[in-house]
Amino acid sequence: MNANNVVAVVLAAGKGTRMKSRRPKVLHEVAGKPLVSWSIDAVTGAGCGSVVVVVGHGAEAVTALVAARHPGSRTVVQAEQKGTGHAVMMALPALSALPDDGVVVVVCGDTPFITDTAIAALIAARGAAPMAMWTTRLANPRGYGRVVRNAAGSVVAIVEEKDATPAERAIEEINPGVYAFSALFLRQSLSKLTTANAAGEYYLTDLVRLCVEGGGAVASVAVDAAITDGINDRSQLADAEARARDLIVSRHMKNGVTFLLRHSVLIGADVLIGEDTIVYPQVSLSGRTRIGANCSVGQGSVLKDAEVDDDVTIHPYSLFDQCRVRSGALVGPFARLRPEADVGEGAHVGNFVELKKTRLGKGSKANHLAYLGDADIGAGVNVGAGTITCNYDGIGKHKTELKDGVFVGSNATLVAPLVVGEAAYIAAGSVVTDEVPAGAVAFGRARQENKAGRAKTVREKNAVRARKP
Ligand code: UD1
Ligand code: CA
Repeated sequence: MNANNVVAVVLAAGKGTRMKSRRPKVLHEVAGKPLVSWSIDAVTGAGCGSVVVVVGHGAEAVTALVAARHPGSRTVVQAEQKGTGHAVMMALPALSALPDDGVVVVVCGDTPFITDTAIAALIAARGAAPMAMWTTRLANPRGYGRVVRNAAGSVVAIVEEKDATPAERAIEEINPGVYAFSALFLRQSLSKLTTANAAGEYYLTDLVRLCVEGGGAVASVAVDAAITDGINDRSQLADAEARARDLIVSRHMKNGVTFLLRHSVLIGADVLIGEDTIVYPQVSLSGRTRIGANCSVGQGSVLKDAEVDDDVTIHPYSLFDQCRVRSGALVGPFARLRPEADVGEGAHVGNFVELKKTRLGKGSKANHLAYLGDADIGAGVNVGAGTITCNYDGIGKHKTELKDGVFVGSNATLVAPLVVGEAAYIAAGSVVTDEVPAGAVAFGRARQENKAGRAKTVREKNAVRARKP
């Protein structure tokens, strides 16, 4: 199959009234991925070389999402929703490069469980027929177009619920709304659709009748009803969420990931996890998060767009956002890695430590209670408890550089811009405002004075004060 000759049209112009939402239906998410993206990914996975999304309600927002997330896909606007046939008509001009012997796959933008394999099977099943369609059986087919077959068992029509006779309504075989058309047949037939039906719309499904009238066969592929489920309301959205999460966790388990409480975790659709990694309860992994092999993701940790290499231990309740953690590092508990934090190989980030736009070099440690922002920290550096980079002066952000081997004593206040040279020492409690040369010890605090025997005097004074009313 030549991917250039197979394109897909995703129908996503409808309003989705039952969602009761300001957001266009296809932008609602399942497992952190917008509905329309599930459809685009499925047709792409099935071998469609390009994708055209028909947008209407919320066109701007859907177009922006498609542009951002699927740069290879295009959108066309269907300003007025005059039916599924009309929606595909709107897409035709965008397909002008497709040769007549090409294939147009049509799917809906609100069916997150359609699979690339079943779509590929549909493309293959069409053979030389003008069109092919999925069908499935439902004990309760209400709302769906019914598949009408002749005595020989061939598909001859799809009848919409509104137009169906009582006998047709009893048919349990339905149209899930996934098709593969020959480009030539689609081009020749769409213009023949009319609105002479109960809904007054251009029905894409009338192409079945036109195909048969033209002497062509309609190929059909029976699929599992579970993959055809569409989302129309919040209850179906919640069911889909649970199902998708379960499928995702199952996929990771097949790849060698251990989950200690599988139903408690939230793993996004695009997350990658390496072999032998253990995911503890109540963990949330989302966005483009990638976790290496042999890691441990502690209970309650929340990672978004995080890159974690192999052999990393994440202790409980750590938050990662757009950061990088290199192999063998230990992070948490209660650590916060904000955007552009980069934790080096074997480095330690302990409890109540926050990193923002900060590189912590190989083997360096910030084990307790620190804020490190806009800092470049070399290898083998020890950052004592309570260390704060004063990176912000109310107007601009400034950089702190701690060269290799620096030792920062507890409760140091590092006022940026600041450079601390290699292997320098910062005394505990220092406020450091000036550059520290390599190998120096910086004291930035008042000297301690001891008054011999004064404790007794202080106590007596305090006792007198306590007696006064
Ligand atoms: C359609 C089928 C029906 C099938 C059902 C499967 C037709 C005439 N009927 O019914 O046989 O069983 O899907 O769900 O095709 N859309 C547009 N523009 C429009 C109208 C719809 O983009 O003008 C999009 C919707 O956003 C949606 C998809 O097309 O993603 C299907 O539309 P919907 O209104 O749900 O179709 P149904 O009438 O339910
Ligand atoms: Ca529908």
